[in-house]
Amino acid sequence: MAVTNPLNLRWWSSKKRSSLVALLLPVLLVPAAAATPDFAHDIAPIVYSKCAPCHYSGGPGPFPLTSYAEVRKHSLQIQTVTSSRYMPPWLPSEQPIHFADELRLTDQQLQTISNWVRAGSPEGSSEVPTTPAPTTDETWRLGPPDLIVKAAQTFHVPAAGRDVFWNFILTPQLTQGRFVRAIDIRPSNPKIVHHANVIIDRTGSQRMRETTPGQGFPGMDVTVLGSPLDLNGHFLFWKPGSIPWSEPDGLSWRLNPGNDLILNMHLQPSGKPETELPTIALYFTDKPPTRFPYLLQLEHDGSLDIPAGRSDFVITDSMKLPVDTEVLAVYPHAHYLGKLLEAWATKPDGTRVQLIRIPAWDPNWQAVYRYEQPLLLPAGTMVSMRYHYDNSSANPRNPHHPPKRVEGGNQATDEMGHLWLEVLPEKGRDARRVYAEAWAHHQLEKYPDDYSANLTLGSLALSRLHAQDAVEPLRKAVRLQPNDAIARNLYAESLDATGRMTEALAQFRLAVKQKPDFDNARFNLAHALARTGDKAGAIENLRVILAAHHDDPAAKAYLDQLTAQ
Ligand code: HEC
Repeated sequence: MAVTNPLNLRWWSSKKRSSLVALLLPVLLVPAAAATPDFAHDIAPIVYSKCAPCHYSGGPGPFPLTSYAEVRKHSLQIQTVTSSRYMPPWLPSEQPIHFADELRLTDQQLQTISNWVRAGSPEGSSEVPTTPAPTTDETWRLGPPDLIVKAAQTFHVPAAGRDVFWNFILTPQLTQGRFVRAIDIRPSNPKIVHHANVIIDRTGSQRMRETTPGQGFPGMDVTVLGSPLDLNGHFLFWKPGSIPWSEPDGLSWRLNPGNDLILNMHLQPSGKPETELPTIALYFTDKPPTRFPYLLQLEHDGSLDIPAGRSDFVITDSMKLPVDTEVLAVYPHAHYLGKLLEAWATKPDGTRVQLIRIPAWDPNWQAVYRYEQPLLLPAGTMVSMRYHYDNSSANPRNPHHPPKRVEGGNQATDEMGHLWLEVLPEKGRDARRVYAEAWAHHQLEKYPDDYSANLTLGSLALSRLHAQDAVEPLRKAVRLQPNDAIARNLYAESLDATGRMTEALAQFRLAVKQKPDFDNARFNLAHALARTGDKAGAIENLRVILAAHHDDPAAKAYLDQLTAQ
């Protein structure tokens, strides 16, 4: 990945004094100035690489740490927050498999900071490094974007109260489908944004959640509707200081005209009224995807029922990988009661690999963690999660005083236990179906009445032309979410394909009634009507589609065919 370092800091590597000598020969060294760390040689390299990405003027950190004077002014505080490991914010404990861009300070770096502060924070040699290029965020870090999309309306964050979880809906104006290799997210007010992620909505399913168009809608977690085979398998995540990720060739993703980008933002009141108006930059590539990652989810929200006061409540989930897999990244997610979050993989030969371990979960610093190298796991590997929750009053983040019984749910005061893995089948095949099917079966073991799992199994069977196997799961999905026109259209397709025409017609009609602008369902309805002899009805529906979309080639061709007969 070619990403420009936002801080131009190559100067220190050649000048860094060898502290190894000091470690090996302590008795030979007179306690002289040589042993005292100074800013130029010892502190600037740490602070400029591990702190300045957030602590710059106008950045998310409360004050800049981009010069000797600024760092010196905060030196005592810096010693405190680094030794307690509060800063830099980095939740995972050390593990053999490393993450890219780890923000963790080594014990030795902590010692260096401590020694420097104790020595009176000397500046050191006159060769003080120049200030790192300030990351004012006025330039995009991946270079000039191909398309910039701004949210339609400013969101107002109240001065005080609970954290706010707001979803902006951004619709890139595209005239043709594009392949996206990277996105960058720029909050207008980074001080109040804790994290943000983007979900692609190909069906407009979230627009109906807005009370005023363009305004967005509240909610901590978003589930988009749509074909389970067309879900985006990439993490599109932003946190303060993070460097945007550019996908390598072959791993781009498709964005079609009319697709919505749901930008889910975690905003924190600052003490005064604030506003936020985010922008997203898109970077395109001509290279279509050749490999298709999948976001595999472990979770057990259904077993979350945490008694008030319980200090250690545990949930687990495990599932077997259906194919040889590369794990690219991991995203653990819980709300305010989460405490110890861990996940690991057990290979078929019994070897255990730690995927991530977060000893003191803090939802404010949640993040996607990308592995330095893709992690190879053979088919049959069991991936597992185990999350601990603290619902006692000793948990300073407990949203309830006194503690209350808490169940699973997507309000900030409910709890969640999710572990997402961005997985890629090893041999370049499109294994999204295989993962989706394994996931759906696993989900149904936990929850026989799971809507998404039934929808997934039904869609998979339909796409394999096994309509007979699709009817039952799709019937269930429709029963579970009667308002979902997308599921209903698929259910009708399965009835149509198994010759149950009368039922199919009724279901297509209902789907169109539920979502009048749902062209696919209307086209299917027209097709079914024509086949049952109602040519006039078919023509009428095709004309409705064409009135809205003059250029719909399939509707046009079919209308021509029917009117020519
Ligand atoms: C990922 C972004 C990020 C990085 C990296 C980061 N900080 Fe911070 N820092 C913040 C934010 C945001 C706050 C204010 C919110 C808070 O205190 O939780 C903060 C607060 C602080 C505070 C004030 C704490 C308090 O109690 O008021 C200090 C001191 C600090 N950081 C020092 C550092 C140092 C030193 C480093 C590097 C070793 C560092 N930070 C790295 C984002 C960051």
